[in-house]
Amino acid sequence: MSALFNRRSKKVRKDENIVLPQHIGIIMDGNGRWAKLRGLPRSAGHTYGAQNFRTIARYCSNIGIKYLTVYAFSTENWKRPEDEVNALMKLFKQYLNEALTDFKDDDIVVRFIGDTTAFSSELQELIRRTEEESKHRTGMVLNIAMNYGSRDELVMATKSIAQRVKSGELDIDSIDEDVISNSLYTAGQPDPDLVIRPSGEYRISNFLLWQSAYTEFVIMQKLWPDFSTDDLDEAIRLFSNRNRRFGGV
Ligand code: IPE
Ligand code: IPE
Ligand code: MG
Repeated sequence: MSALFNRRSKKVRKDENIVLPQHIGIIMDGNGRWAKLRGLPRSAGHTYGAQNFRTIARYCSNIGIKYLTVYAFSTENWKRPEDEVNALMKLFKQYLNEALTDFKDDDIVVRFIGDTTAFSSELQELIRRTEEESKHRTGMVLNIAMNYGSRDELVMATKSIAQRVKSGELDIDSIDEDVISNSLYTAGQPDPDLVIRPSGEYRISNFLLWQSAYTEFVIMQKLWPDFSTDDLDEAIRLFSNRNRRFGGV
């Protein structure tokens, strides 16, 4: 770990006025534009973006974030040209094989949210192994959203609740907000306090719709491969200065 990295982590930790979010979500957006600005293929942007994911995830763990959810591939991203989708699948495999072992040193629990049955059997096996190998760790929980779409998640949850009602396991009048929350991929986890979207887009793009009812949003102008640990500090500072009322006064 570099001296610079250490100094930066202390910077956030040392600031006693900072309220750290317990759960951060990041929409890792802007890889394509980052590559285009450099005259590179979009896939090169994804390679740099994946590298940055590694840095930012470890940094979050290092400063004491308890849950981090990163949006890596949406249910709508299959619409992209075949070569771009193939490049992303290749990158996911490489990352599950190599970079995720990094997270072992940081005691990070790795989980996947989304419909992973759509991936190749090789990738599904890597996902299963990664979750299995990390599930007894005690550090930050990292949710990687892959083939994730919040509407798809709500359809999945609705079907599972309907099934439980049909089988007599669940009474229809017992369906409440907790039953729904506990039927989502994020069951048992706190809602995100802060969602960060780099790349300057002011939209949620089907990310954690139910879970973000009272989330604070920070939109940043940086493209994801350029998004630094200082930018993360800045987003946390902005969050820390927000007045969250949750409908109260
Ligand atoms: C985010 O970057 C990565 C994925 C959606 C997989 P984009 O590829 O969306 O980059 P832009 O938004 O086109 O710049
Ligand atoms: C959201 O970004 C999905 C991910 C970052 C994985 P998109 O680039 O797919 O979203 P839109 O198309 O700009 O809304
Ligand atoms: Mg995009």
